Amino acid sequence: MSTSGTMTFGIIKPDAVRAGNTGNIIQRITDNGFRIRALKMMHMSRQVAEGFYAVHRERPFFAELVDFMTSGPCVVMALEKENAVLAWRELMGPTDSTKAPKGTIRGDFGSSVGENASHGSDSEENARIELSYFFNATEFC
Ligand code: RTP
Ligand code: MG
Repeated sequence: MSTSGTMTFGIIKPDAVRAGNTGNIIQRITDNGFRIRALKMMHMSRQVAEGFYAVHRERPFFAELVDFMTSGPCVVMALEKENAVLAWRELMGPTDSTKAPKGTIRGDFGSSVGENASHGSDSEENARIELSYFFNATEFC
């Protein structure tokens, strides 16, 4: 199969991995036409999580966010599709899981605004930055 489209960066967050939803979420990703170009499980150190969310450093929820993202393993992914950034954010649903519609990943697998099962880049430029933060060039298939 030829590859086409653009790439975004996604995370299956520690709450979803802990709850045993990794497989369910990957199934939704492939069912919705994304191609997985890279994927690995990792347990983020505080340094890695703080660097990844550096843009939120001054926000009141920063410490809670870093605690959560380092609370257990997560799965980091490179996802390819036409308009991948927007398509992946639509599949995830809005940030607050309690407001996310059923049928979205956050609506079905998240539990709160913080513990929301997944991450997705918010622009193509941030997707490139985030992909290179977690993956070496040799890890893309
Ligand atoms: P993400 O970056 O994880 O894909 O989520 P997002 O764009 O929808 O939301 P963003 O504003 O970038 O927030 C990053 C993550 O911080 C946590 N958060 N907690 N307690 C709170 O009010 C609050 N607000 C945000 C969430 O885990 C959110 O995904
Ligand atoms: Mg964000």
